[in-house]
Amino acid sequence: MAGAGYETSDFWAKKARKEGYPARSVYKLMELDAKFRLLRKGFRVLDIGAAPGSWSMWILKTLDGTGFLSSVDLQDLGVHPSADNFHFLQGDLYDPAIRAELAARGPYDLVLSDAAPATSGNRGLDTDRSEALVEAVLDYADGMLRQGGSVVAKLFIGGGQRELLDRMKGSYRTARAFKPEACRTISFETYLVGLQRLDAGSADR
Ligand SMILES: C[S@@+](CC[C@H](N)C(=O)[O-])C[C@H]1O[C@@H](n2cnc3c(N)ncnc32)[C@H](O)[C@@H]1O
Repeated sequence: MAGAGYETSDFWAKKARKEGYPARSVYKLMELDAKFRLLRKGFRVLDIGAAPGSWSMWILKTLDGTGFLSSVDLQDLGVHPSADNFHFLQGDLYDPAIRAELAARGPYDLVLSDAAPATSGNRGLDTDRSEALVEAVLDYADGMLRQGGSVVAKLFIGGGQRELLDRMKGSYRTARAFKPEACRTISFETYLVGLQRLDAGSADR
């Protein structure tokens, strides 16, 4: 059944509908997880830009009642998982009050961001906004991640990818970009992945 807000257009969207996920983007997370082994039972996870909820649904399924998931989005999540290990907060990652509320449920083993600015049609503006959002996610993850934790952040590819990856290489054992197959071929998005956060005084830096 096609519900409000369900995407209908392509293979991944149809598969998502069939499997009960509100967005095709869940398959991007599955690919990221298969490649980088991001999620484990017992992890505390933060899902930034979580609506309409497909990543959160899959994370909760994978945690299987263990660990904890905090999700945040400007919009209502749209789905309402009833799980004791889950909390959704509607608000803006840039808002200090929202940051404080998310922090109260940390620290986290994994910070995921599929957050994207509303697109304007002006690619330069959209990529600038996306880079700013990724920087905000990385800044926030710096304070929220346990040592050894990992971060994934969606980026609209503009000129800033190299600089962001260089920055990540100072804080994570591995930092690289990865574009899952489930991304639309024409999309200019990629995911920046930082694995194993180093501690502030690490000799590995
Ligand atoms: C592509 S959607 C995420 C899809 C989601 N991962 C899923 O699987 O259902 C991007 C989301 O980022 C959210 N977003 C953008 N900027 C944000 C911000 N500053 N704080 C919180 N959420 C934000 C948008 O409201 C939007 O719902």
